[in-house]
Amino acid sequence: MASGGVIVPPEGYLRRMRQLCADNDILFIADEVVTAFGRLGHVFASKDVFGIEPDMITFAKGVTSGYFPLGGVMISSRLFEELRRSNHPDAMFAHGLTYSSHPIGCAVALKNLDILEEGLLEHARAISAHFQASLKTLEDLPLVGEVRGLGLMACVECVADRVHNNPLTLDLEVGKRIDRHCQELRLLVRPLINMCVMSPPLTITVPQIDEMTAILRSSIRRTMDELVREGLWHG
Ligand SMILES: Cc1ncc(COP(=O)(O)O)c(C=O)c1O
Repeated sequence: MASGGVIVPPEGYLRRMRQLCADNDILFIADEVVTAFGRLGHVFASKDVFGIEPDMITFAKGVTSGYFPLGGVMISSRLFEELRRSNHPDAMFAHGLTYSSHPIGCAVALKNLDILEEGLLEHARAISAHFQASLKTLEDLPLVGEVRGLGLMACVECVADRVHNNPLTLDLEVGKRIDRHCQELRLLVRPLINMCVMSPPLTITVPQIDEMTAILRSSIRRTMDELVREGLWHG
């Protein structure tokens, strides 16, 4: 889960869900809008990261690295055969959108796939350990409750009370405060209530990761000082 705060499923969870769906004849649809095309170091994460084969996979963002809007859905051969086996020989799966198969989108996606295959997936896989470890060091800051993530996506979650892990009340908008300081220091994060979410370019380097963590550290420190000055938090 991305927008929901980078929730990484526990080991085996998706395999179990997949099995449960198969046992009960329920379609398993994997939303890989965020995870496909490199974010987790593979073209698709379902099989290569989580060991499952869904019936359908939706994808978007990474297929063009966001340079042009394009989304899609893949269906398994089993499902495809089911659709073909319907009650009339001429039956078809009627489906279309105004911009289906938009030639510019498809051209951008094909070029993007070429670039991904020039070593970007390997790079993403190799560098993600440093990315996660570097951000994890922020957990020593008193405002940070947890840093979590997988591959090249991560989230810094702030909590006012680390003992009870109570999230800060929403009106404090700590994510936005940290984001404001980050922008002053020339880093863009995605603020989400009491969290900051990071999805860096797949080309990110070790020095850039270190710089990113250093800016986040300064920004969180500035936010802590600000909250104390405003009497909203006591550390
Ligand atoms: C996991 C996930 N799926 C789907 C979407 C939305 O996709 P779309 O805007 O292509 O409908 C998002 C966020 O933008 C997302 O994070």
